[in-house]
Amino acid sequence: MTPQKSVRDYIRTIVDFPHEGIFFRDVTTLFADPRGFRLCVDQLLHPYAGQRIDKVVGLEARGFILGGAVAHQLGTGFVPIRKKGKLPHTTISQDYKLEYGEAIVEIHDDAIQPGETVLVVDDLLATGGTAEAGIKLIERLGGQIVGCAFVVDLPDLGGRDRLTQLGMEVHALCAFEGL
Ligand code: PRP
Ligand code: MG
Repeated sequence: MTPQKSVRDYIRTIVDFPHEGIFFRDVTTLFADPRGFRLCVDQLLHPYAGQRIDKVVGLEARGFILGGAVAHQLGTGFVPIRKKGKLPHTTISQDYKLEYGEAIVEIHDDAIQPGETVLVVDDLLATGGTAEAGIKLIERLGGQIVGCAFVVDLPDLGGRDRLTQLGMEVHALCAFEGL
């Protein structure tokens, strides 16, 4: 009998994208496969099933695809954290460092009520800069983060340690060593 593929097996690696020397972990092949997508959504939410979660927050852009599916399955609301200038109502902003330069993410200031419990979802954890910016926004609104769930962890880039030091419970479905 052929063993069932794991979430990691559905992820495609593109060599030298977007720069030479980078192994890009492409989750579109995971999302495009009906068994792969269901498997990853089920595994992402599994540790949180039965916990009180009021909102799932997805980080733009691939976190929207996963976060929407997880929120639907958990029966919670979904809240987007978007790159600057995309949200129409009043927002709060947070800057964070990229490999080259800086970026800004935003959340609607009424999207999370103080005391609400929040699960953060994104496709990939690298340096943790994106997730940390999202965590700061949620905490500034008074949200209580119950966990941060990712499909892929790149442990060499230190994101898990960074989020753990912030007191976060980090959950990733698979890891790829190296860049
Ligand atoms: C990628 C990935 C994560 C983030 C991880 O998003 O989807 O959101 O980088 O990197 P970090 O842990 O070092 O912050 P990207 O910024 O490429 O944007 P996208 O999801 O909109 O494509
Ligand atoms: Mg992203």
